[in-house]
Amino acid sequence: MLTPQINLFKKSNPLQAQVLANTRLTPEPGKGKRPSKEGDSAVHRITIAIDHNTYPYMIGQSAGIIPPGVDPEKEAKGSADPSYTIRLYSIASPSFSFGQTKDNIEFVVKRDNVYDENGNLLHKGVCSNYLCDLKPGDTVTMTGPAGKKFLLPQTDFSGDIFFFATGTGISPFFGMVEELLVQKLINFQGNVWLIYGAPYSDEIVLRDYFEDMSKNHSNFHFVTAISREDKNSFDGGKMYITHRAKENAESIKNAVNGNGKFYICGGPKGMEKGVIQEIISACGTDLSYDDFKKHLEEKEQLFVETY
Ligand SMILES: Cc1cc2nc3c(=O)[nH]c(=O)nc-3n(C[C@H](O)[C@H](O)[C@H](O)COP(=O)(O)OP(=O)(O)OC[C@H]3O[C@@H](n4cnc5c(N)ncnc54)[C@H](O)[C@@H]3O)c2cc1C
Ligand SMILES: NC(=O)c1ccc[n+]([C@@H]2O[C@H](COP(=O)([O-])OP(=O)(O)OC[C@H]3O[C@@H](n4cnc5c(N)ncnc54)[C@H](OP(=O)(O)O)[C@@H]3O)[C@@H](O)[C@H]2O)c1
Repeated sequence: MLTPQINLFKKSNPLQAQVLANTRLTPEPGKGKRPSKEGDSAVHRITIAIDHNTYPYMIGQSAGIIPPGVDPEKEAKGSADPSYTIRLYSIASPSFSFGQTKDNIEFVVKRDNVYDENGNLLHKGVCSNYLCDLKPGDTVTMTGPAGKKFLLPQTDFSGDIFFFATGTGISPFFGMVEELLVQKLINFQGNVWLIYGAPYSDEIVLRDYFEDMSKNHSNFHFVTAISREDKNSFDGGKMYITHRAKENAESIKNAVNGNGKFYICGGPKGMEKGVIQEIISACGTDLSYDDFKKHLEEKEQLFVETY
């Protein structure tokens, strides 16, 4: 059984690791469904060489990245350490890498940029742009692993598993689906539901991978919620993952009662509330939101990582 190792590398003793690959997963600006006045949505898959004995991560954990250079705000304040603050990124590769080669770690990163109403770039996120610009052979400064709760079951498991993702919240579920259904590190007998929301259909990243998984595994159910293309059948408004949860209320209720697990990841922060509310509605419980959330968390049925 794997146990999470945390903070093996800190800002004071970071790990230097080499980039192996960096691929853009979303359409180039102006070539996809996103109107140019909404700016660019650039999501990248980044692969970094890692020795698993040195950096023994588990899927569900995050890694810290320290962007190079000096933070101008800290410098202006005369900070003793003006280097950038660590940014966390969910690990996207299964615990022993894709192919169980134990030699790399992967991330799914979006350039966190701000655009005006005409699609002109106003501000570039420091670390996400640094990562998305990396080339094979470049060196990255890493900390971690971080987090010890957002983890898959580590012993044989027969309940159903629901993964809810928005945007780059898909990252941990890429590796979790692979680890559960392909690598089979545990004997898993349940169903896996991936409910994944994005603004446009061509911004559902890794779609081919998930569609292949649903063709090859009858217990894998891949459901998308395309907010700016699909209309929900409840009020005719945007289609969110919460509406997909409502459509699948019976399966959610069965999962709760069958000791199943619910994982929610992505942004905006607070989006988990809508999903948890749908789980509560599906169960028809008299408990309040806070009490039911606490109940599910105490039974290790609910895991949230929103940012
Ligand atoms: C547990 C965890 C897991 C995460 N996993 C992922 C992941 O898998 N993939 C992923 O892409 N992200 C992930 N994130 C988010 C990530 O940590 C960073 O927050 C994100 O990449 C933005 O960092 P940045 O340095 O690029 O942006 P920053 O430079 O820190 O800016 C942050 C935000 O503020 C805006 N901003 C800053 N200054 C200004 C200004 N002067 N004017 C206007 N806007 C401004 C930026 O555009 C951006 O939107 C995760 C976060 C957490 C906590
Ligand atoms: N990825 C990052 O780098 C990062 C880092 C830090 C914070 N964030 C925050 O996370 C949010 C999403 O960013 P993203 O670019 O990763 O994702 P994205 O590609 O924009 O996808 C997010 C999806 O979730 C939908 N959505 C919005 N509010 C929701 C809610 N309450 N419940 C369910 N679905 C909801 C969005 O719909 P609509 O947009 O059409 O309404 C969209 O379809 C932003 O608020 C961003 O500021 C992102």
